[in-house]
Amino acid sequence: MSLSAKKPIHIIVACSENRVIGKDGHLPWRIKEDLHYLFETVKDGVVIEGRRVYDEIKKEYPGTRTVVVTRNPELQFPEPILKASSLPEAVEKANSVKGYPTIWIGGGQSLYEEALAIADRLYLTLVHTEVEGDTFFPEWRSEFPKVVSERKSSNGKFDYTFLILERKS
Ligand SMILES: NC(=O)c1ccc[n+]([C@@H]2O[C@H](COP(=O)([O-])OP(=O)(O)OC[C@H]3O[C@@H](n4cnc5c(N)ncnc54)[C@H](OP(=O)(O)O)[C@@H]3O)[C@@H](O)[C@H]2O)c1
Repeated sequence: MSLSAKKPIHIIVACSENRVIGKDGHLPWRIKEDLHYLFETVKDGVVIEGRRVYDEIKKEYPGTRTVVVTRNPELQFPEPILKASSLPEAVEKANSVKGYPTIWIGGGQSLYEEALAIADRLYLTLVHTEVEGDTFFPEWRSEFPKVVSERKSSNGKFDYTFLILERKS
């Protein structure tokens, strides 16, 4: 059992009003400001992500460490990327990484679904549109009703709101 101290676990996601997060292995939109927000927010943290999310960019976000979750024992990732076969194992490994005080759940769908029960904060970019997609974020509103902060923005094509939410006490 790991003796390392437990880090806070936050979820970070951008989803549409109909809770779409992805289509054909990619984001359904291109919102530069949200990508910058993602990179800035997760900096200095440990990102836990599914194997398909990793396959999208195949490297760690700047200034972070990464744990990739896969059921495939054959898969190898370049150092210093860590590998886990389940979310609990990924959290244990993330907790043992020194100098990176926060754990970020970076998707995709099944990790978000599993993490909703254990995360203490949700960093949600709500994109005010309905899009077609094949991967979804779970319904969060009853679980994370407390708004810690809210900032509206737009890139001309999409309006979106950066929300930080906490779970009901
Ligand atoms: N909008 C956003 O903020 C956001 C964020 C992240 C991703 N996305 C989008 O979501 C899509 C990718 O997400 P996805 O849901 O398709 O895939 P994913 O979660 O990244 O990857 C799925 C794979 O991860 C592994 N995995 C997931 N949960 C696991 C568990 N509990 N235990 C062990 N292994 C597990 C399995 O890998 P193996 O098959 O190797 O066993 C599974 O096939 C893309 O379109 C991406 O652009 C959007």
